[in-house]
Amino acid sequence: IPTVSADYEGSLPPKIQLGNKKIVTWYTSPFPEEYIRCQCLYLCEFCLQYMKTVKVLKSHYEKCPWHRPPGTEIYHDVVEGEDGEGRRQELVLYETDGNEWKEYCQNLCLLAKLYLDHKTLYYDVEPFLFYVLTSRDKFGDHLIGYFSKEKNCPQRYNVSCIMVLPPYQGGGYGRFLIDFSYLLSRVEGQHGTPEKPLSELGQISYHAYWRSAILDFFLEQRQKSSTKTSIKAICDATGMWPQDVADILQQLNFLVKKEDSNAWEFSLVPDVLDAYFERKNSAKKRLPLHADKLNWDP
Ligand code: ACO
Ligand code: ZN
Repeated sequence: IPTVSADYEGSLPPKIQLGNKKIVTWYTSPFPEEYIRCQCLYLCEFCLQYMKTVKVLKSHYEKCPWHRPPGTEIYHDVVEGEDGEGRRQELVLYETDGNEWKEYCQNLCLLAKLYLDHKTLYYDVEPFLFYVLTSRDKFGDHLIGYFSKEKNCPQRYNVSCIMVLPPYQGGGYGRFLIDFSYLLSRVEGQHGTPEKPLSELGQISYHAYWRSAILDFFLEQRQKSSTKTSIKAICDATGMWPQDVADILQQLNFLVKKEDSNAWEFSLVPDVLDAYFERKNSAKKRLPLHADKLNWDP
């Protein structure tokens, strides 16, 4: 087995192979010592078991019965491609209980840690649910990314950790998962927020999502010629946490302090709304999330 030398200072293991994809790692993850020193760690793309050689992986595939993540399928949608060539993608989302599928969830966390620099959980997975996004083809449901969520969370975190595998990043899957996490919050009748700290990429993705969720709210209001607005109404419509809503409103200059008083008032900036509307229509289409396709109870 080719191993990395003892004075190597990059992330460990330096590379993984998942399905047919070789992926460079960003950070070290606490796989057992004998696995971490391999040049490349081989993972079964379905059960996420990790192995030291491609030979072991091949014989694993011959007997591994898995072709999808464990747990319950809670969302299924066929997304038609927009390139006019009939490219379509079947997105399937699973809810996987850390208590029931401990080893799978531990392996998922170890995999995620390769792309997260702050400390996350790896072994203590029982108190969490995992929402696993896959792309379906005739070979099975292939992992794209996931987020974890605490089962009983007094702070109302609706996401603990979120990760999209590097080959899929920038494809709108992160936004889709964030959108999904807020859909779950709305179904629960809750206002949620992700666990802090956010990574740099987490910060960028969440801010982009929050801004657009709030601007979409105002676009809809404008369409309905409705002028009644409150932070609570935005929270109820989006599932967002009031503080996150207030922060974004201030950044947009949609919330300003009244003169001679400590009160705040809404002050929409039509140009900002118009520019957003233009951008939304000209930019790449977002992956749609259909609330009616969610098959889930809190
Ligand atoms: N540079 C600039 N903008 C970016 C970048 C980037 N590198 N990455 C994402 N964005 C923007 C996109 O333009 C997009 O904005 P838009 O929707 O307005 O167009 C938005 O952020 C989301 O982009 P997606 O393509 O949907 O996101 P992606 O699939 O890449 O997933 C994620 C985002 C999950 C954060 C991914 O980058 C990742 O897994 N990173 C490593 C792990 C990580 O840092 N996770 C977050 C930790 S914080 C937490 O867990 C609570
Ligand atoms: Zn397997």
